[in-house]
Parts: sequence; structure tokens; C-alpha cells
Amino acid sequence: MKIFSRVFDPSCRKETAVESPSHVTNNIIIEPSASMKNSQKAISDQRTGVITGATSGIGRAAARQLCRFDLQLILISRNAAKGRSVTNEICKISGKDNVTFIQADIANFAEIRQVASQLKKRYPRIDILVNNAGARFNDYKTNADGIELTFATNHLGHFLLTLLLLEPLNASPGGRIINVSSDAHYGCPADFGYVINSKTYDRKEAYGRSKLANLLFTYELARKLAHTPITANALHPGGVATNLGKNNGMISWTRHWVFYLMRRQLILPSKAAETITFLAVSDAVKGVSGKYFQNKKTIRSSDVSHDEAAAKTLWNFSERLVDEGWVIRGR
Ligand SMILES: NC(=O)c1ccc[n+]([C@@H]2O[C@H](COP(=O)([O-])OP(=O)(O)OC[C@H]3O[C@@H](n4cnc5c(N)ncnc54)[C@H](OP(=O)(O)O)[C@@H]3O)[C@@H](O)[C@H]2O)c1
Repeated sequence: MKIFSRVFDPSCRKETAVESPSHVTNNIIIEPSASMKNSQKAISDQRTGVITGATSGIGRAAARQLCRFDLQLILISRNAAKGRSVTNEICKISGKDNVTFIQADIANFAEIRQVASQLKKRYPRIDILVNNAGARFNDYKTNADGIELTFATNHLGHFLLTLLLLEPLNASPGGRIINVSSDAHYGCPADFGYVINSKTYDRKEAYGRSKLANLLFTYELARKLAHTPITANALHPGGVATNLGKNNGMISWTRHWVFYLMRRQLILPSKAAETITFLAVSDAVKGVSGKYFQNKKTIRSSDVSHDEAAAKTLWNFSERLVDEGWVIRGR
């Protein structure tokens, strides 16, 4: 496996590729809304927000809220039909052609590279990156690179996307990275090098670990970017009535709802998305970084999630898995 080393140098706001891999796929569809089709020009003073997993649940609700702000929105999801429908829905709400849909599988690193490259060409400045797409799988599955799919979807794809978008995020006066984690991380250990295969796979543990990875990544990223205008925060959205787990069948899906219903804690996606919107646009969190939120307030994540050595180990492990080595100058 080759390790590529790049330098993200915030002081000159420029990324230097020392060596870069060429991953080319032809199945990325970018569908700009009508007015954007007429403009090939990148608009550097236009505020831009990117949301992954915006075709359903919390991501879609966040897009519905964020489109009301003066933002160009880019929605990344894997289903083109759903993407078109959500793009139309959001444009109707905002009354503007301010949405672009990009079809890509977040667990496919070649596609993420291609998406990031196209985004950087079109949007030299990105103000908000919401890493929201997520899934749980009852059975062991792998992505195209042979990596367990929960970890690849919930952590690695977003890890890669974030690193590749640091340059446009740094071009914003205050780029904000928002990672959607979960209270499922509590109780999970941080040994990411453990062997996982179809025999050892535990769906609950795989999901919990991926959400712990979201937190370790958020905190390490915040530390690494402390000398830049970019902030990185995470959140637990609550127990939310969404399509999460529907891929595992009706029984599995309803179990999730019943769990939170019994505790009278089940909330709507719009309520959960309020914390994303708050972190994305509120002045109250300007400059705030490396924190974990629920209901627009900071909460304490597990002790393990604050383990800096574990965060560094995960970072190095993730770099190797996505073939992307990064040095952020100043650390
Ligand atoms: N619901 C909860 O109670 C809860 C609690 C804690 C944390 N969370 C987190 O909240 C986030 C959003 O989940 P949700 O509850 O809103 O679930 P959801 O309704 O299933 O939405 C998930 C979104 O992610 C997209 N997605 C999944 N896998 C993808 C992939 N490989 N590539 C691209 N997009 C992909 C889905 O696309 P499709 O439309 O194509 O499926 C959908 O747009 C997740 O990170 C989840 O872990 C949810």
C-alpha cells in the first residue's frame, strides 16, 4: 500500500501535493440546479455548505434548514433519484437555485477523491462541511477496498473527504466541520487495529466504534487545525425517527424506534437537525472547536474519545487505509 504525503499549509492557504494517486471513476453525477448550469465561474465570495447523506433523515432536514441562509448547498448522496427529488424540494423551500446534488458513495474512496477534486475546482471556498451520511449493517460487508463497511461509511469516507477539502475550508474566514456522531460510542474501546471479519463481526460494536472514530477524529482534527480559522465539532442528534437501519429489515428498523419511544426520547429529524444548523451558522459557536454537542449544548463524550494517543493511532491507521498521508504544518 502506498502512502502519499501532502502538506496542508494554512499560512499560504495552499495545498501542495507531493505525490498524488490517480483514481478515476466515471460514475459520479453532478447535477447543478438550473442557474448554476449557466455559470461555470467559481464565485469566491459565495458561502458554500456541503452535506453528506442529505437524501434522508437528519441530513435532509439540515439541508431544508440551511437553504434558508445565504448559502450555496452541495448535497452528496448515493441515490440519484432521491438526490434529484431532494434538490427540487430544497430549491422550492429556498425559492432559489442554490442546490447542487453530487451522486457518490461515501464508502468508495475513489469516488470521494473525484468528488473532492471537482468540488475544489468549482468552489474555491467552502464554509461548512457536514459529515452526516451514516449506516448500520446487521451483517458483515466490505467496501470496494475490502474494508468493513460500517467503518468505511461512517468514518473513513468522511475522514478522506474532510482532508481533501481542507484547502477550500481554509479559504473561508471560518470554515466549520461538523461530524454527526452518536451516543452509541459510549462503552466502545479504541483498539481500531483489531481483526474484524465475518466471524468476529458484531453489528452493535461495529456501529459504536465507527461513531467513536467520529469523535476521536473530530478532537484530533480540532487540535491539528487549532492554528487555522477552521473549527471541527461533533454532535449526537438524539434518537431520531429516520430511515437508519431500514436496510436491515423492518424488525431491526422498528427496534431502534421502539427503544427511543419507550424512553419518550424519539424526536423528528427537523429537531435533530437544529443542532447541525446551530453549529453551521450560529455566531454563538464562532471559533468554538473540538467539542461534542447535543440539543445545541456541549455534552461530555466518553473518556476513551478524549484519549489523544488513541486519536493519533486512529488518524495514522485511517491514513493508511485511504492511502492518504497528510502533514498539517504547525503540528
Ligand atoms: N437516527 C438516529 O437515531 C441517529 C442517532 C445517532 C446518530 N445518528 C447518525 O445520524 C446520521 C444520519 O442518519 P439518519 O438517522 O438521518 O439516517 P438515514 O435516514 O438513513 O439517512 C442516512 C443518509 O446517509 C446516506 N448514506 C448512507 N450510506 C451512504 C453511502 N455509502 N454513501 C452516500 N450516502 C450514504 C443515506 O443515503 P440513502 O438515502 O441513499 O440511503 C441517507 O441520505 C448518521 O451518521 C447516523 O449514524 C442517527
